[in-house]
Amino acid sequence: MFVEREASVGEPTSQERRNIQQNDKRILGNVVQCDGARATISAHAEDAEGTVTGLWTVGRMISINLGSTRTVGLVYAIGKSDRAWNPDGQNLIEVSVELVGEVRDGVEPGAKPVFDRGITTYPHIGAIAHRIRTRDLQAVYDLAGRYSVTIGTLSQDESIAANIAIDDTLARHFAIVGTTGVGKSTAVSLLLRKTIASRPDLRVLILDPHNEFAASLPEYCVKVDSKTLDLPFWMFRLEEFAEVLFRGRETVPEEVDVLRDLIPAAKNLYRNPSSGTYIRRGSDALTADTPVPYRIADLIKQIDERMGMLEAKNDRPTLKSLKTRIESAAADPRYRFMFNSRLIEDTIHETIGNIFRVPNHGRPVTCFEMAGMPSEVVNSVCSVLARLAFDLALWSEGRLKLLLLCEEAHRYMPADPRLGFAPTRHALSRIAKEGRKYGCYLGVVTQRPGELDPTILSQCSTFFAMRLANEQDQAIIRSAIADSSASTLAFLSSMGQREAIAFGEGVATTMRLKFEKLPQEFIPGTAKGEQIEPSVDGNDVDLAMIVERLRNVPKPQQSMAFAETVDSSRQAGDPDYKKPANSPRVQPDDDFDTRYGLKPSTFGMRQLND
Ligand SMILES: Nc1ncnc2c1ncn2[C@@H]1O[C@H](COP(=O)(O)OP(=O)(O)OP(=O)(O)O)[C@@H](O)[C@H]1O
Ligand SMILES: [Mg+2]
Repeated sequence: MFVEREASVGEPTSQERRNIQQNDKRILGNVVQCDGARATISAHAEDAEGTVTGLWTVGRMISINLGSTRTVGLVYAIGKSDRAWNPDGQNLIEVSVELVGEVRDGVEPGAKPVFDRGITTYPHIGAIAHRIRTRDLQAVYDLAGRYSVTIGTLSQDESIAANIAIDDTLARHFAIVGTTGVGKSTAVSLLLRKTIASRPDLRVLILDPHNEFAASLPEYCVKVDSKTLDLPFWMFRLEEFAEVLFRGRETVPEEVDVLRDLIPAAKNLYRNPSSGTYIRRGSDALTADTPVPYRIADLIKQIDERMGMLEAKNDRPTLKSLKTRIESAAADPRYRFMFNSRLIEDTIHETIGNIFRVPNHGRPVTCFEMAGMPSEVVNSVCSVLARLAFDLALWSEGRLKLLLLCEEAHRYMPADPRLGFAPTRHALSRIAKEGRKYGCYLGVVTQRPGELDPTILSQCSTFFAMRLANEQDQAIIRSAIADSSASTLAFLSSMGQREAIAFGEGVATTMRLKFEKLPQEFIPGTAKGEQIEPSVDGNDVDLAMIVERLRNVPKPQQSMAFAETVDSSRQAGDPDYKKPANSPRVQPDDDFDTRYGLKPSTFGMRQLND
């Protein structure tokens, strides 16, 4: 009966005859029901020889032959209407498919078939469903000449490459979501490798909360951590600076107001040392946010002067507390990267050049390692970096293309506006909204799309959804996908490792794919070179070292003298620098203990030598 229908399509040519023969083997069943978006096919669970085959499985593409076109359908459910299995005879099954689009043969003989997402002719009752041809499947995912890179294979047919249009994926931002351990970071590493190979002009900054990427991209990246980072405090905006000063807690508006007044004055003092402290507003456009250098010492001096004023009597507690805050931040070893520079000088070019790889010296990726950094620092630094990335792309007038890749993005762009740090959120959403125009792109990786700021997620045009168990997270992804492929997402909770559903601008049609396997040494997190043996009895674990790291807190403060230290702009590590005898604990200093007759005791406590 099937062959008859095929033959009635007209006088068969040899090619068609071959097709018919092939089709014969591929025949799966007939359409028995169809609405605007879905169809039901009646078929047999057994093939012609009577063996039960796996031809019908959920997630597969099939095609429905309509003569000049073939409708492509995706199987999303299979069942037997009577729910009973007959082991002897044939078993009739019902297969539900979602209609994905239409394939039409090219006009010229031998031309590639062309896929179209719309459906012009709906399947009639009785139309024959086939296993899809490889060429048709390729046509479904064909990127129509868009520049593409291969990132894996289709889950349905491992002989077909899974390609994404890399330029669109980047320019319109992308997101990789999935529960822990499904391979998100590995997918990022793979994507970056492919991207760098095809887009040598791209620069990438990875915000890496687990310090795992540097080892997986050894030949492409430089790493920056809190020890090597050099991001002077004067590059921070007022609110970012305040976040550090107030250690992520609620700021005191009066103190911030004082800062807003005095920072421009300190900047002015740095620029014109001879000028008095009095600055005329409006004559100089310096604000607390302008990224020009100033000295902490000048700022402190301003505060002191204000405290000395007669009319400032009521403000004195505020000023005093602000002064202590600034001083303890500047002395905090965790903030060394901000207050580190020996000389306060205009190093903004170097800082930007280092972080954003201009020039890149063959290594276009920067891994910003944040494990172990206090969260208020992470907050403000992410904000500064995201801001710089956007401004750099903007002011380079399209010459610099930057990708900002945010691992564990829900941490700094949480859905709950009360959480997270507003300036980071602003900076990132600015990239999400306007970055494309200037060549600043965003890549977002998260385990919890439900906890991620929905504005950011809605600006991502390409998604790689890996296994997601949580219902709320699935709902977020479901709301992002086009209706016509919504049933693909039924697989979200059951996908294997390395598997992802890709949808959006970067792919032609929603695509279930398996990422390429990366060699062990390139897998983030595990690529540490040697494997570390876990300790069984714990004898060989250096607890003292662990506690020392854990206690990485500012040393108790006894004197205000470090203001002088910063004033002379000389810091720990300067061989020529002699500490004033009356201010022993001014700056973190490695041979501090020996010099001042203190010896470190267990767990980092200090005792005076006898
Ligand atoms: N493409 C791949 N090639 C080879 N192995 C892979 C691949 N993807 C994932 N794996 C395996 O899965 C493990 C977990 O992957 P990965 O660390 O990327 O997961 P993740 O989703 O980033 O997890 P988390 O959310 O906890 O960071 C890897 O250690 C690796 O063994
Ligand atoms: Mg990861």
